[in-house]
Amino acid sequence: MVRRYRVPADTAREAEIMRHAAAFGFPVPEVYEVTPAEMVMTRLHGPTMREAMVADPSSIGTHTTTLIELHHRLAEIPGPAWLTAVIEPGVALVHLDLHPGNVVLTDEGPVVIDWTDAGRGPIGADPALVWLLTQVVDVEATGGSRPLSRETLTRFADLFLTAFDKGLLAPLVTQLAEMRLADPHMSDSERSRIRRLLEAGPVTR
Ligand SMILES: Nc1ncnc2c1ncn2[C@@H]1O[C@H](COP(=O)(O)OP(=O)(O)OP(=O)(O)O)[C@@H](O)[C@H]1O
Ligand SMILES: [Mg+2]
Repeated sequence: MVRRYRVPADTAREAEIMRHAAAFGFPVPEVYEVTPAEMVMTRLHGPTMREAMVADPSSIGTHTTTLIELHHRLAEIPGPAWLTAVIEPGVALVHLDLHPGNVVLTDEGPVVIDWTDAGRGPIGADPALVWLLTQVVDVEATGGSRPLSRETLTRFADLFLTAFDKGLLAPLVTQLAEMRLADPHMSDSERSRIRRLLEAGPVTR
């Protein structure tokens, strides 16, 4: 399948990152060709983990376990020297958008897509980003006609966070929140939710 970019992107970098992850046995689509406007990669078949959770909320436990495993596996992949660090210390490869909407559940297992924000970063940055998203996401505005209910989102967040040390993640949540505020692509609603979160002080849940 072809992924098209609205604005020219560093697709060569994104493809190299995906190849690096694949070299460490991490499940990613195979990239066949890149231009600044397009990336040609394997077409995956299956729902996203997010879609599967919306379709059957009783599956949240199983899917969250899968997502936690993916986070643990990713944290073991070293950040290659040629890659810039998005956050210091850039010891590991970080995806920085590894939420259920970016995991496709195929018959061969889960595959992680959308590596646009990836780079080098500290261990914990990926789960911290998921934690941040669960706190600031506008559930009504995402997922089109099938949004995730607030209740499902809370259950997911609680289950997901049992696998990580929240004390270690909290400073990263703040750092990522500040980075997102500086990102011009952020919607006004997410921006104001992030501001409120930061004003509320240290992240506690
Ligand atoms: N290799 C693939 N094979 C099949 N479907 C894919 C593939 N890559 C992406 N998709 C589908 O396209 C959707 C968007 O892909 P992706 O997350 O890479 O782009 P995006 O620009 O970040 O979009 P979004 O804002 O929806 O996250 C995915 O949710 C998935 O359903
Ligand atoms: Mg995506």
